[in-house]
Amino acid sequence: MADEAGIEQQKTLQSICYKRGLLQLLDQRKLPLETIYLNIRDSKDGWVAIKEMVVRGAPAIAIAAALSLAVEVSNLGAFGGTPNDAASFLSNKLDYLVSSRPTAVNLSEAATKLKGAVHKASATASDGQAVFQTYIEAAEIMLVDDVASNKAIGHHGASLIQKQQSASTSLSVLTHCNTGSLATAGYGTALGVIRALHEKGVLGRAYCTETRPFNQGSRLTAFELVHDNIPATLVADSSAAALMKAGQVNAVVVGADRVAANGDTANKIGTYSLALSANYHGIPFYVAAPLTSVDLSISSGEEIVIEERSAKELLHARGGLGEQVAASGISVWNPAFDVTPATIITGIITEKGVITKDGSDSFDIKSFTKELASK
Ligand code: MRU
Repeated sequence: MADEAGIEQQKTLQSICYKRGLLQLLDQRKLPLETIYLNIRDSKDGWVAIKEMVVRGAPAIAIAAALSLAVEVSNLGAFGGTPNDAASFLSNKLDYLVSSRPTAVNLSEAATKLKGAVHKASATASDGQAVFQTYIEAAEIMLVDDVASNKAIGHHGASLIQKQQSASTSLSVLTHCNTGSLATAGYGTALGVIRALHEKGVLGRAYCTETRPFNQGSRLTAFELVHDNIPATLVADSSAAALMKAGQVNAVVVGADRVAANGDTANKIGTYSLALSANYHGIPFYVAAPLTSVDLSISSGEEIVIEERSAKELLHARGGLGEQVAASGISVWNPAFDVTPATIITGIITEKGVITKDGSDSFDIKSFTKELASK
């Protein structure tokens, strides 16, 4: 009970509530109508919560997965195995968690990092329990690091947009899907940039798209914007080009699920259309994402696996959660993400600064990260 009270205090727009041994996820399928937290007891619960979109958004998925396993081993009781037994137990569970959703790289990146920590610990640990302890601590750090990283993204993004818009004090920014507190450990990436502009007093209006079919924009981003008293307007995905033509958008900022080494970016379906429209209208189009969303192992977006989701999301109201609204018998194509080519992305805003193309058609993210490492 004491644990639950501790967790209770964290709950303001938080998708992930964690205390050692206890994990609760805000059921985002129920927002904005109901605020219900689900207890996640182990990696199986974590896998299902990710697959069924209780928790979504690339950084949040990675953290929720890692913590679901942290909770499982915290509550395992006595573990009589060797350090190697503990390491392979954790490694197998992490592989299982990675299989929940394929497109966002943050989850597999986190699993690789955690496996590395566990492997290293198993070489010197006295018993399996000590390896579990290392795992738990490494998973817990992700929660703290993500908020700091998002605040840095917000800061870099807001300064950039302000500079590019000749210090206007009434900037209008369009965003897509949900990249806010609900999609991360807190503050958000693209929505973090909007929050930072608002904090600086230079945001005139945020526009959020509905984000069909699952409506992450109308249900979640609109909820966050209203909660924070940020001046905001909801638009249908299909009205974005008209809004741009009407001169109502100074910049578009979106998140990312996987960024290839050349800057091609997979993000929520509809992002590509927004980038094309922005490009046509001469509006800067930014991707805001932590470096954990970058996959340097792939040279272009061609190699990104795009998740296809159930037909029900289109056939039924509320992204598949409500009653059937489409004609029975129609076939459906429902990709959850699309890939925006680097050519039409103006800049990639990370926690370590903004990556630009410097006159070329694509980004050189390998050089950007190499330079960071040499500093
Ligand atoms: O299917 P979802 O809701 O997980 O898709 C989320 C997005 O596409 C976000 O833009 C992306 O994960 C970045 S969240 C900071």
